[in-house]
Amino acid sequence: MENDYKKIIDFIRDLYGTQQVPLHVPRFTGNEKKYLAECVDTTFVSSVGTFVDKFEEGIAKYTGAAKAVVCVNGTNALHLAMLLVGVKPKDEVLTQALTFVATCNAIRYIDASPVFIDVDKVTMGLSPKALKEWLSKNAEIKNFQCFNKRTKHRIKACVPMHTFGHPAKIDEIAAICKEYYIELVEDAAESLGSLYKERHTGLFGRVGVISFNGNKTITTGGGGMLLFKNKELATHAKHLTTQAKAPHRWEFIHDHIGYNYRMPNINAALGCAQLEHLEEFVLNKRETASKYNDFFTTIRDIDFFIEPENCRSNYWLNVILLKDKDAQQRFLQYTNDNGIMTRPAWRLMNKLSMFKEFETDGLKNTQWLEERIVNIPSSVRIK
Ligand SMILES: Cc1ncc(COP(=O)(O)O)c(C=O)c1O
Repeated sequence: MENDYKKIIDFIRDLYGTQQVPLHVPRFTGNEKKYLAECVDTTFVSSVGTFVDKFEEGIAKYTGAAKAVVCVNGTNALHLAMLLVGVKPKDEVLTQALTFVATCNAIRYIDASPVFIDVDKVTMGLSPKALKEWLSKNAEIKNFQCFNKRTKHRIKACVPMHTFGHPAKIDEIAAICKEYYIELVEDAAESLGSLYKERHTGLFGRVGVISFNGNKTITTGGGGMLLFKNKELATHAKHLTTQAKAPHRWEFIHDHIGYNYRMPNINAALGCAQLEHLEEFVLNKRETASKYNDFFTTIRDIDFFIEPENCRSNYWLNVILLKDKDAQQRFLQYTNDNGIMTRPAWRLMNKLSMFKEFETDGLKNTQWLEERIVNIPSSVRIK
């Protein structure tokens, strides 16, 4: 076993050309400094400036969204997405426990309750089979709305997450949501550049969310984006992100409770420069994944996680599956002791003190994956 671990860290060091290898770091290889200097020189660093519009247009074009609306980060984009589809206090929102805490925090900001449904082993994302099973046992439809038979609360939305960039079986999930009158909000924070049946993730419901945090495939320092198929909903979203200020040259009139969620121009400038390299970064990451895949076929008892069928994954964070929890812990200890940054998946949401009380469906695959997943270094490689 120790021999195999040594072989793995040698391989990773060789792949990245350094002794210490971080998990995921940003790459600034293009116009970043130029665009940032433009912001400083023109003084347009804050809420006014041309980079915001350019970045939104660029992401809409890249993803195929009718419109994209930029936010300060992915978490507040998720909060807004919940509001936009009409999630209200006491509603229930179906989601996965294998996710980053922001998914559930956004649900709780509105005082709605998460219900944790199992994931698929082959996608690590919400399982349509588990979703269907839970709904057929627990849900009833009244007046074109879905209710939990036991709690009597409305089940308003479903938030699957494309885990580590790998698309969930999102067309099946979308069909189930439609059948049960449930709004689909994709947490595509990690999956910019990932396609399901050639369609960009985040575009299967009325709204999807992307993150540009520093550890993502491209970054704006901090940032998020809402993706829309429908331009009207996007216009409303834009209004809400800008304090719901009615357009007027000098008067301050606000016609709704609004939010200061608009990304500053200086962050959008970074985003514009990064976006120019997005496709190249995704291809670079896919090549890294292919090298990992070839290498791990030579290692016993460790499986490299490959993209699900019918998908193009951005391989945001590469995943290996260890034999069991003991092996996972040993591997984490060995690699981190030797300067190779590796991480387990997040502590499951249903195990965190804030979310312990909420319903689950048993989470069999989720638990199995939690005990085995290890993320390994995945930054874009400099060639
Ligand atoms: C699945 C998921 N959802 C939401 C977020 C929140 O995004 P942000 O950090 O931009 O607020 C992240 C990552 O950061 C994430 O990984």
